[in-house]
Amino acid sequence: MATNADRALALRRLAVGYQVDRAASLARLRGQAHFVPGRGSLRPVYAFIGEAPGAAEDRQRRPFCGPSGRMLDELLASVGLERKDVWVTNVVKYRPPNNRDPLPDEKAASLPYLLKELEAVGAQYWVTLGRHALGALHPGVRLASVRGQWQAGITARPLMPLYHPAVALYRSSMRATLLQEFAKLKEVPS
Ligand code: URA
Repeated sequence: MATNADRALALRRLAVGYQVDRAASLARLRGQAHFVPGRGSLRPVYAFIGEAPGAAEDRQRRPFCGPSGRMLDELLASVGLERKDVWVTNVVKYRPPNNRDPLPDEKAASLPYLLKELEAVGAQYWVTLGRHALGALHPGVRLASVRGQWQAGITARPLMPLYHPAVALYRSSMRATLLQEFAKLKEVPS
């Protein structure tokens, strides 16, 4: 059983590997953004996976610390969770310029690190936030057809695809939907 120190060391090694990865797509992003590592509990039940850091995250080098992060905190609180209980990360660890979507080659180059990161923290359940994270871990499915439903047997751990918290920032009617779907996190598959 890995100790917290083992996990922290494994994560540090992965972080170094990502920051020196020679993939052209990552080198391009690295030239203009800071590395934003995953953060949270080293014994989490849930890992939450977003797409890529935004401007606030790039400045503070912490995932989900801007407006989407405040919405995420509210959603976590609705199911009795705080940041210290969960692992929060992104598929791509550098902010794409001008808030554009992460490109397929950026997500592909980042995926091996994400998988090793999730293994290192040992989260029992994976929760994707938005279509980019879902597409990285479970390609070829539409978010609309699987969101709010546990997907078992596809990834190493059961996966719950959810909307990205940002949707509630630009469509306030989505807040209730997100709250409803977050509640399903508690009905974990056996
Ligand atoms: N959106 C994301 O997907 N990740 C962050 O860290 C912030 C906003």
